[in-house]
Amino acid sequence: MNIVHISAECYPIAKVGGLADVVGALPKYQNSATMSSQVIMPFYNNTFTKAHTFNTVYNSQLNLGDISYPFKILTLKKSPLDFDIFFVDVPELLFKEYVYSNDDTERFLAFQIAALDWMLNWDTYPNYIHCHDHHTGLIPFMLQESFKYERFRKTPNVLTIHNAQYQGWFSHNKVHLIPAFNFENAGLLDWDGSVNPLAAAIKCAWRVTTVSPTYMEELKVSANGLEDLLNHESAKCSGILNGIDWNVWNPETDNYLISNYNIETVISGKKANKKHLCDTFNLDFNKPLFAFIGRLVGEKGSDLFPETFKKVLDKGDASILLLGSGHEEVEVQLEALKKEYKGTYNAFIGYDEALSHIIYAGADFLLMPSRVEPCGLNQMYALRYGTIPIVRSIGGLKDTVIDISEKNGFGICHADVTVSNITNAIERGVSLYENNSTYKKLTKQIMEINHSWDTSAKAYIKLYKSIN
Ligand code: ADP
Ligand code: GLC
Repeated sequence: MNIVHISAECYPIAKVGGLADVVGALPKYQNSATMSSQVIMPFYNNTFTKAHTFNTVYNSQLNLGDISYPFKILTLKKSPLDFDIFFVDVPELLFKEYVYSNDDTERFLAFQIAALDWMLNWDTYPNYIHCHDHHTGLIPFMLQESFKYERFRKTPNVLTIHNAQYQGWFSHNKVHLIPAFNFENAGLLDWDGSVNPLAAAIKCAWRVTTVSPTYMEELKVSANGLEDLLNHESAKCSGILNGIDWNVWNPETDNYLISNYNIETVISGKKANKKHLCDTFNLDFNKPLFAFIGRLVGEKGSDLFPETFKKVLDKGDASILLLGSGHEEVEVQLEALKKEYKGTYNAFIGYDEALSHIIYAGADFLLMPSRVEPCGLNQMYALRYGTIPIVRSIGGLKDTVIDISEKNGFGICHADVTVSNITNAIERGVSLYENNSTYKKLTKQIMEINHSWDTSAKAYIKLYKSIN
């Protein structure tokens, strides 16, 4: 069985968020004696591509309407990955320092066309084509409708929705950029008057999955305009919870950590990492450390951070450390708080993979007050590193964190995203931390929760097999 994942991101090559982590891990866990799983992604001009060398395996031209663009398919000369990866190099469109910007329609259309054009030349066609998010959402439509891809009509394809907030909308004026298709079916591209790649994929894919079961149910009620469509297509939709890369995210071997640890040494190991964070960011080591790592956007509740943090820090019984970037207004406010709360608050505005690992290890609690969370990987990393998650019960967070007040509970959960709910949840964390023996017991207990990809990778295989 041969599976091809097509995605805009893949860790460690290009990462904006959790999509990269998933596409960089799932293929490893799918590869086996009877199965080969590979990835096709864009060739960006980033740190990874600058540090590696590549071979060209295919050279051609693609058309976006009347304009022709040269493209190449590249492979790594020496790959650090456990699966095959191929890069679509369209120098004029994709070879940028960024992954996403405001010219994404042409860029990702070119990516999708180049990937399929190349696959037409393969000696053996893949058994399954697996698309991720709206950046690859026109593939199921093109496989079904574009004349040039007729050979793939019988190749099953799967769409995984990592985030339905972003749908890739563009105007019907650009529809001529899509390789010629039976125009009678142009309606498949439309949702509410725009070309909507995510909607087109939900209509045309053979199966649609979301990255947690609860998120699938939530989308039927709230999906940024696609609720009716998801209800209509519900027979082919299901939720499969993400896993995490058990080897990359392992406190015992993680090279980014100041001190490695396992379940026996977690208390001293976490202390050493916390000490480093407190020294580096001038934070009071004796107070419980609450951390946030992520995109500073409305979905993550970040607009409420400045007010919430002030309330918490005014009480004086906690420290807060934030790592993230996003909305400028929020970034400015979070920077400004530093002066006011020297010694108990700090923030690194930006992206830093190494620091994120040290924070998962050194923090006592990880905050995730998300308004929307299709799955969320941070809470699973936190558990693996013995850090107690404080989450809003929604989407994948609801599927992975049980409140300490419930049977077998280990985290702190709250309802709607409000300043008082988040503040109260943090206060519950402070009380838990003060109850030293319960806190220490929980730290060990959560490290035993297994969210490795093993189970979920099997669920995908079962799904592929159910299609034939
Ligand atoms: P999303 O994909 O919605 O951003 P996830 O929880 O699925 O959320 O995944 C986020 C991933 O991105 C995690 O691996 C997290 O550690 C990482 N991440 C987010 N922001 C940063 C940052 N500023 N620096 C380093 N890593 C980050
Ligand atoms: C998206 C979601 C996040 C999920 C990630 C990986 O970025 O926002 O919740 O964990 O994709 O599937």
